[in-house]
Amino acid sequence: SSETYMFQYKGYNFTKNIVTPEYIDSLEDFEIRDSDVFLVTYLKSGTVWTQQIIILIHEEEGCNAAESQGSNAARSESYNATQSEGSNAAESEGSNAAESDTNMKRMPWLEYNLEGKDYNMRPSPRLFTSHLTYNLMPKMLKEKKAKVIYVARNPKDAMVSLFHFSKILTYMETAKNIGDLMEKYLSGQVARILILFLTVVAGSWFDHVRGWYSHREQLNFLFLTYEEMIKDLRGAVLKMCHFLGKRLQDSAIDRIVEKATFKNMKNNPKANYEFLPEKAILKDNGKFLRKGTVGDWKNTLTVAQSEHFDEVYRQRMKDLPLKFVWD
Ligand code: PPS
Repeated sequence: SSETYMFQYKGYNFTKNIVTPEYIDSLEDFEIRDSDVFLVTYLKSGTVWTQQIIILIHEEEGCNAAESQGSNAARSESYNATQSEGSNAAESEGSNAAESDTNMKRMPWLEYNLEGKDYNMRPSPRLFTSHLTYNLMPKMLKEKKAKVIYVARNPKDAMVSLFHFSKILTYMETAKNIGDLMEKYLSGQVARILILFLTVVAGSWFDHVRGWYSHREQLNFLFLTYEEMIKDLRGAVLKMCHFLGKRLQDSAIDRIVEKATFKNMKNNPKANYEFLPEKAILKDNGKFLRKGTVGDWKNTLTVAQSEHFDEVYRQRMKDLPLKFVWD
């Protein structure tokens, strides 16, 4: 049963063996830098997509710095050293992540520190990814100017995406059907389904969005939706560049948009997450990049299920001044 794999801490379910209460506690006091960039999402909301974009934006900036040989010379020097010494250098703590690294290495999850790296040794600017709920995040986040990009997705689509994803995880308590998953999804018990891979599943979608959105004024915060990224990818990339303080040329923006399309990411081994150990994570050629569309819930939920979801949504979100484009 799921109890074998899970433990409860601070009101959340965690996976044994991967996360310890000590590690969760240590995150509370994790030292934040003004230059840090955090991508925060609830599960299946466009994390690996946005991760790719943020990395590409910084990559373009790296090119510019190298070309101009200006004040960023030190940075590009250590960058070159990393590249010429090959993957060993890239793996050693304290070195810059290299362009040849996977996106997971370049922008690691704060909470899945699977390689046990000392994040304090990472050179600035550090890029992090996280599914954590606001109240489990490092406290210093609101004292520093660290940037937080939050991406939300229609929870019905995120749930359907999770449903399909749960079928390709090797170690998990299988979601029997979408109705079964929905029950757990609406009550924030998602961690009971995704046992091994998702160590920290931060409660329900509703709590996640609320937790982050209600602290937006204390943070250096950009709120985006998956749906607006689908509608206008270039616009979303420009928003992110602006927020990150990067002024890139049109041609650089074009390159980023091109490399962030569903088709190109699906074929990009550094970005498509097929690099995860096959035995542990994916089975049946499961893919992180499944369909990449808006409204797939219509093909999956019954009318009654959808109406029930909407009702819970209305209740849980009624006092949040947040208008989503998917309505
Ligand atoms: S995870 O496991 O929580 O990190 O998953 P996450 O990356 O948040 O979400 C996976 C969904 O994002 C879709 N995706 C994309 N959509 C459009 N364009 C691009 N480039 C892209 N990359 C990933 C992915 O297909 C998953 O959604 P579904 O609906 O399952 O296709």
